[in-house]
Amino acid sequence: MAMTSLHLKPPICTGTRSCKLYDPEGREYLDLYSGIAVNSLGHGDPDWIRVVTEQAHTLTHVSNAFYSIPQVELAKPPVACSFADRVFFSNSGTEANEAAIKFARKFQRYSFPDKKEPATEFISFTNSFHGRTMGAVALTSKEHYRSPFEPVMPGVTFLEYGNIDAAGKLIQSGKIAAVFVEPIQGEGGVHSATKEFLQSLRGACDDSGSLLVFDEVQCSLGRTGYLWAHEAYGVVPDIMTLAKPLAGGLPIGAALVTEKVAASIKHGEHGSTFAGGPLICAAGLAVLDKISKPEFLLSVSNKGQYFKELLTRKLGANPHVKEVRGFGLIVGVELDVSASTLVDACRNSGLLIITAGKGNVLRLVPPLIISKPELEHAADVLLECLPVLDASD
Ligand SMILES: Cc1ncc(COP(=O)(O)O)c(C=O)c1O
Repeated sequence: MAMTSLHLKPPICTGTRSCKLYDPEGREYLDLYSGIAVNSLGHGDPDWIRVVTEQAHTLTHVSNAFYSIPQVELAKPPVACSFADRVFFSNSGTEANEAAIKFARKFQRYSFPDKKEPATEFISFTNSFHGRTMGAVALTSKEHYRSPFEPVMPGVTFLEYGNIDAAGKLIQSGKIAAVFVEPIQGEGGVHSATKEFLQSLRGACDDSGSLLVFDEVQCSLGRTGYLWAHEAYGVVPDIMTLAKPLAGGLPIGAALVTEKVAASIKHGEHGSTFAGGPLICAAGLAVLDKISKPEFLLSVSNKGQYFKELLTRKLGANPHVKEVRGFGLIVGVELDVSASTLVDACRNSGLLIITAGKGNVLRLVPPLIISKPELEHAADVLLECLPVLDASD
């Protein structure tokens, strides 16, 4: 995709939240890209701006040698309303997964000290994306991300997403420190796990002592209409990783863990100078405060359902459209050809969207505050631009 330079119009900077962006020539774009599923509150949310500005006046950075009030406050809601007992902050989704990798290895050594060979290996799945550091990229299925940098972290087996038997068998081997899975895969093409799959992973991990890690970096924090995506499945992990929307556009990540995992990690075994800083955590509080409200989550579910129906109705008859799928406001439109010409045409018509999968899936991840008329407009632009795909035949 060609780079487009974007900014907010001056009035928006003064605090009118919006799903619109503007290029230097003043052209307006409806943002269904959200900085890759980050800007859940849109752009210029006045409460977020106020909180960040006030915190910048108070305290920006103290390092991980100290706790700060915003950090402690940001850890409280996830602990209060999830399986987790402790929160470890990082600076990105990749780093949150890197922390989860380390915690899983340490947990195995700490919890099973008599085992001759501690479980050090990992299971990941087809179409997975977990990040780009040497550990996280080793868990990422697309070879294209790994092969230029090999050798990456060894000991990762990729299994078919959804294959209960293969996963159960390997988890029972006793070698698996942790299983990493996205309840809904974003980058991989907007694929949702089934309840049976996640339940079976939970059961197999319980039997073997392997940890179950849910990577909810992209699908969590309200995007599905649930605060945590796994709530839709009634299955809880031992570790959940978060990032993207948590601080409303500032860099953050988090690994949420149970007490049994936290007990295996000693102070100083993992850390980061910037992670969980007061400015970022105050921004996170402003986001969490809004997106965790039941009426907000319900509006995401309703809009997601509406958008999916709208897209199915408007685009479904086009022979290039194979499927419209998704959950809440993470919607995928699978095509039988590359989506890149359509993405370019939409951008030229003032709509920002992103691809996923093998480049043949449109990934629609609007700000969660988007309105129904804006979703209708997006569907209309997509419909108008669809004929460009005929040139790809
Ligand atoms: C599921 C998932 N995990 C991890 C990451 C990596 O996060 P980050 O880009 O913040 O490092 C991403 C990013 O797209 C993601 O979608």
